[in-house]
Amino acid sequence: MVISVTPLSADFGAEIVGVDLAQPVPREIFLEIDAAFVRFAFLVFPDQPVNDDQQLAFTRLFGELEINPQYAGGRMFRRDDVADFTNVDADDSLMRAHDARRMFNIGNQLWHTDSSFKHVPAKCSILSAREISPVGGQTEFADLRAAYDSLPPEMKMQLEGLVAEHSVFRSRSQIGFSEFNQEIHDRFPPVQQMIVRRHFESSRRSLYLAAHASHVIGWPVEKGRKLIEDLIAFATEPQFVYRHRWRMADVLVWDNRCTMHRGKPYDDTRYRRIMHNTKAADKGNTVDLARTSNDPVALLAPII
Ligand SMILES: [Fe+2]
Repeated sequence: MVISVTPLSADFGAEIVGVDLAQPVPREIFLEIDAAFVRFAFLVFPDQPVNDDQQLAFTRLFGELEINPQYAGGRMFRRDDVADFTNVDADDSLMRAHDARRMFNIGNQLWHTDSSFKHVPAKCSILSAREISPVGGQTEFADLRAAYDSLPPEMKMQLEGLVAEHSVFRSRSQIGFSEFNQEIHDRFPPVQQMIVRRHFESSRRSLYLAAHASHVIGWPVEKGRKLIEDLIAFATEPQFVYRHRWRMADVLVWDNRCTMHRGKPYDDTRYRRIMHNTKAADKGNTVDLARTSNDPVALLAPII
């Protein structure tokens, strides 16, 4: 063992030291990091003052980079492979309260998994703290594997094979935001994702939920919406949730395939906060993966 892995709980979250993410990460060390990632679902790397290129190099070890569209405002992100989660504008001033970019990012305060509204969602996200708010702004993570494990058997049977429709317009409608760039309407039609999925490396079953999830395919809309809301409420009960309090130069990596997260509010009209986000894409759409996997019950029959 080269790196040091300190669990934050039995199997959800771990802190990693003994690696410098500003340098190329050797293959043997990445394999240790990846093993911790598979087991703990989110990792905290303290004191890693990386720049964008270094963060991208680390992200590429997990998979193909995900590209970010300009969701809202004149230009939301400086570059298409790094998402700026910030209230600081290009001229170093705080964004105005009604700025479309700021309003869009308020949607990150809803429980979600990244990019589930894309046909191929994000496998993992990496977030680095460049400037932090002295008050608020924490990030919470929910363990959707543990939540699934805790469901009663009859609920597991009911969920087997169910597919939900996800849309970025669904999540943003919940905060009253609709100022998308026209390109976004064209590029992101609703997509279908499994409600229960099997984690590729660990084989653990997990819920797959997000504020982007609208309803259940083949069910009346309101019945499916109620199910999704009930599942999100259950999966975010305190026993499944960890809250991370950011320190300068923290780097976090989380597995979007089996967790949800949300940002806690902070006074963004008073405090500066600059976080840089990169993502590695998943192997495919969850429905397609289930159909082609060796999981015989993914789409066919309930498991007991
Ligand atoms: Fe997110």
